[in-house]
Amino acid sequence: MPTTAPTPYVCLASDTPFTAIEKSLDNGTNACLVISADGKLLGEVTLEMLRDTIRGGAYLSETRVDSLARPCKQVLHVGDTAKTTAVLTPIVDADHRLVDVKINQLAEFVPVAQPNLSHHEFRNLMDVYLSTWISSTGDYIRSFESRFANYCGMTEGVATSNGTVSLHLALLALGIGAGDEVIVPDLTFAASINAILYVGATPVIVDVEDTCWGMTAAGVEAAITPRTKAVMPVHVFGRPCQIAEIAAVAKKHKLFVVEDCAEAHGAKYNGQMVGSFSDIASFSFFANKIITTGEGGICITNSPELAKKMRVLRDHGMQPERRYWHEQVGYNYRMTNMQAAIGCGQLDRIDEFLAQKRKLADMYADAFKDIPGIRIQDPVPSNVEPVVWFVCAQVPADKRAALMDAAKKENIDIRPFFNALSIMPAYTKYVTTPCPVSVRLSQSGINLPTSHRIDAEIVQKIAEICRRVLVAAAA
Ligand SMILES: Cc1ncc(COP(=O)(O)O)c(C=O)c1O
Repeated sequence: MPTTAPTPYVCLASDTPFTAIEKSLDNGTNACLVISADGKLLGEVTLEMLRDTIRGGAYLSETRVDSLARPCKQVLHVGDTAKTTAVLTPIVDADHRLVDVKINQLAEFVPVAQPNLSHHEFRNLMDVYLSTWISSTGDYIRSFESRFANYCGMTEGVATSNGTVSLHLALLALGIGAGDEVIVPDLTFAASINAILYVGATPVIVDVEDTCWGMTAAGVEAAITPRTKAVMPVHVFGRPCQIAEIAAVAKKHKLFVVEDCAEAHGAKYNGQMVGSFSDIASFSFFANKIITTGEGGICITNSPELAKKMRVLRDHGMQPERRYWHEQVGYNYRMTNMQAAIGCGQLDRIDEFLAQKRKLADMYADAFKDIPGIRIQDPVPSNVEPVVWFVCAQVPADKRAALMDAAKKENIDIRPFFNALSIMPAYTKYVTTPCPVSVRLSQSGINLPTSHRIDAEIVQKIAEICRRVLVAAAA
């Protein structure tokens, strides 16, 4: 390629739009630059423009990408130090030859999460489409189920349409229902407790501890009554709770464990993957999760009997050996082969995602180390190997709104933690003992932008905003 600019950002005029799509997906800017055969800058194409082209009915294989290119918003010349106004800005020499690019992710809104979708997932999706197996049967479903279960050290995977119905399915398969109590932590997304309510059971909310933010074995033991049937530990924000000890308490009291791992793909406790400590573990693959299928979820287990029950319940309650024969009421909770195709692509890249997020968390920790009043990524005990879902920080509760507002003014999304279940009207009646730790964490916690597009410049900008708000507040 006749340019010294990094090739992920550059297409040749004669390339097809497919090349531009794949490069724009992979390079994290949603755009790429188009050059002539002799390296001169012709313009840019963006995913937005490519979508317009598709909607307009163009035959992508017969279209040259130079016919789509538009002039770049801004062009820098070698040595220019001007502030850039686009995410991707070309740098040209005196002959208008592209020699480099400048990336400024701050030129656009910075969301708290963004899926990392590459050409790899895109090709899997085209493959499914061309196979015509776009519903809930197909090779990708089977592969995703077994590969994800094996990734967690389990034998059976039952993919579902999201991580809420997977919790519901798990509770149904274990026979939990009216009259049963299920212990659930106060600091979690509402889907955990909602699933307990769907089966007609009574949730019993317990507080969390201050280090990993999960329920404790002691807290579970204290909440057990003769009606307790199951516990639902949640590994919130990528941080494993005391799952081995909780599983031991559950075993002692003959309780089921349904592990909610929606936010912790790949995390370990005592060297063992989360999702492998329970009767059934549930994961979510919503677009903000560590790996995504758009919407999606999975139940994993080592029990072929439970897996079979879940497969029947997931498929309208229909007997697999006898079509249209129902011995129980079931649901349509299936994942599609299209979602699984994306999931297989994501699973191929999960180690890359986890490493990238870990690096980003370290970058934030470094940038925040001298800012008074902010605690970031609190250390955990040595037997706990958390993953980074969102980079989390604790700030003074009374400064949090000002901080999020200041970030919003700079076009950056900083989100609060979930509200503690115990303070919300829908759930207060399920609190038996106060949950001060959870309430405090939920009122002071923030999630910082955590995606493949966050670079050192954004981290510095966010640190600057935090310093400004928190130091001003301290003065
Ligand atoms: C802890 C927890 N459980 C369950 C869910 C539900 O997953 P989904 O959004 O896929 O239904 C989520 C999703 O955000 C979650 O964070």
